[in-house]
Amino acid sequence: MTKQIHLWAFLQGIGHYPSGWRHADATPEAVFSMDYYKSVGQLAERGRFDSIVFGDQLQSRGANGHTPERVAIPTLDPIALLAAMGAVTEHIGLVATVSTTYFEPEAVAERFATLDRITGGRAGWNIVTTAHPASAWNFGQDEMPEKSSRYARAHEFVEAACELWDSAETDGNAVPVQYRGQHITMDATMPGPALPQGRPILVQAGQSPDGRAFAAATAEAIFCPAPTKEDGIAFRNDMHERIAAAGRDPEAVKIMPGLSFILADSEEEAIAKDEAILDLADEALCIEYLGESIGFWLGGHDPKEPIPFDDIVAGTEFPVADITRMLEKPAASGIALGEFASRHVRTPRGHTVFRGTPQQLADRMIDWIDSGACDGFTLQPAYMPGELEIFVDQVVPLLQKAGRLRLDYPGPTLRDTMGIAA
Ligand SMILES: Cc1cc2nc3c(=O)[nH]c(=O)nc-3n(C[C@H](O)[C@H](O)[C@H](O)COP(=O)(O)O)c2cc1C
Repeated sequence: MTKQIHLWAFLQGIGHYPSGWRHADATPEAVFSMDYYKSVGQLAERGRFDSIVFGDQLQSRGANGHTPERVAIPTLDPIALLAAMGAVTEHIGLVATVSTTYFEPEAVAERFATLDRITGGRAGWNIVTTAHPASAWNFGQDEMPEKSSRYARAHEFVEAACELWDSAETDGNAVPVQYRGQHITMDATMPGPALPQGRPILVQAGQSPDGRAFAAATAEAIFCPAPTKEDGIAFRNDMHERIAAAGRDPEAVKIMPGLSFILADSEEEAIAKDEAILDLADEALCIEYLGESIGFWLGGHDPKEPIPFDDIVAGTEFPVADITRMLEKPAASGIALGEFASRHVRTPRGHTVFRGTPQQLADRMIDWIDSGACDGFTLQPAYMPGELEIFVDQVVPLLQKAGRLRLDYPGPTLRDTMGIAA
């Protein structure tokens, strides 16, 4: 059988372009309303997507927001949102991002057990160690713990949560769990029947060597950036080696890179549409967005001057190696800060952006799958809900006709949908 394509809808805020909310087919005013989440959840389910995904955001936006437009991209609490969306959908998976750095395993395991139970087994957990250093301020700390210790805690955190889920019994009897690690201490019980899926699907999104080691040991699905097909192949090969070395089956782990897309009836029209959306973002907004993603306030810098690489490396709140990797090449090219920022916003976190027709996109997706670049895609619509509607109405039928996307859901749980055994 030809390899099937897995599809996730990353429905962050009102879309993945900072300027997307200004598009005529965007509905930014709706993102605080249940009607909006009901309609986009049902839309993704109509497209037979495996799952919806929401990120988290633990830092206060106001701390870094200097332009009023930033308020237009809110991140609501992912578990609360997905529980609500689970009530108005029947099959689609519900993957929520929750940090292992700032919470405790018993409380997190309890919340995912609730989500899994009330949705008949559709929960997934995107396990993050938290991206933004300013998050520490909201948890009574001056700074975020160092990355390797965050990942060491994440290992124990997930182990403890899994032991707790595994302890739930079909007869409803609670078996007490005692966990003693270096970072985690837990004495807990989980009353009630076993979870419909046993455990929620474990998802991971970290990129560093520590992040990849963690994913190799625990993840059942991986969300990553892959700017080109070759990057996707290299990442998947690397992860397959690491997963095999960890004693697990690489084919059982689904790799789901991000994919933004701008669709139109011809390639020229799609490019023009993309440029028009980018033009809706003023330069100051793009520079602020870039500043947030590199942990360095760029406000005082002239947009017409080159990227202030040395200042950024000396002053970033993020790990210097990550920022150097990201900015080294563009800085060396001499591109002006304003122009780089305006281009950067279209590839949040280095994800690929496709511009073309629905048929070209369907062909591209099939080619990536057949080339071993990934097992599916995490769609990141540039603006919402218009661009997602175009995908569901025009690309999904092409993938189904090509025999690459299911016509219906195979079973009640996210594990059934993704073909991942408990
Ligand atoms: C595609 C993608 C999405 C992510 N989403 C979030 C998020 O919503 N919240 C968060 O705190 N971190 C998020 N992260 C960050 C990572 O999961 C990770 O915790 C962080 O990047 C530090 O680890 P790393 O250096 O191994 O990437 C995301 C990362 C990627 C690649």
